[in-house]
Amino acid sequence: MRSYYIAGNWKMHKTISESIALATVLKGKLAACGEKVLVAPAFTALAVVAEVLKGSKIHLGAQNMGCEEQGAHTGEVSVLMLKDIGVTAVILGHSERRHSYLESDDLINRKVLLALKHGIEPILCVGETLEERDAGKLEVVIGTQLREGLKGVDGAALRNVTIAYEPVWAIGTGKTATPEDADAVHAYIRTVLSGLYGEAASKAICIQYGGSVKADNVAALMAKPNIDGALVGGASLKVDAFAPIALFR
Ligand code: PGA
Repeated sequence: MRSYYIAGNWKMHKTISESIALATVLKGKLAACGEKVLVAPAFTALAVVAEVLKGSKIHLGAQNMGCEEQGAHTGEVSVLMLKDIGVTAVILGHSERRHSYLESDDLINRKVLLALKHGIEPILCVGETLEERDAGKLEVVIGTQLREGLKGVDGAALRNVTIAYEPVWAIGTGKTATPEDADAVHAYIRTVLSGLYGEAASKAICIQYGGSVKADNVAALMAKPNIDGALVGGASLKVDAFAPIALFR
């Protein structure tokens, strides 16, 4: 049976007490969930959520991280700090970071390599804007983000990488890519990865879909052969929205 990887990205939401409350209820509701589930709270709530999740199967992720181990980087959070808290995965290259904070493929690549060096699993996000899609540039954009983002990652390290395909036009807009559209892009991602790492690696890698995933569309998305999980934003903020996604089957 396939296993799915369902991640909740809480973005810049939830105070410490709100994060504790959400994680506590999720821990109970998802105790018997058969999928791999991750939550990515804000940095300020990571340590308390780590405490809440002790003894549960829910993984703890960060939403970003600095590109150096430590040093004079005002405002950044280091991989060592994340590791210290018990974070096991980190979302990198989210389109909000790429577009609003001008993160380049090169910067994202440095973060990917650093996370892997320290045993933290990167969820590398890729995705095109509507303008890029309409201009027929989808494959160039996704191919470049993959090739540049994974530069220097060898085949063994790739096993610890998850890719998240998130069409920018579907994030937080309520517009989901159709399962067919999403699956086609996931298949293209496998083609690119097959060229870089071989067919076996391209088949084995987990590719999440993200962009307005909800309880009522998750099953149709997950039924597609190339979609291995979901990266959920808005619907991860409420138990009643996220639990049915993680428990979709
Ligand atoms: P959304 O966000 O589910 O609110 O569209 C997804 C994401 O940005 O990861």
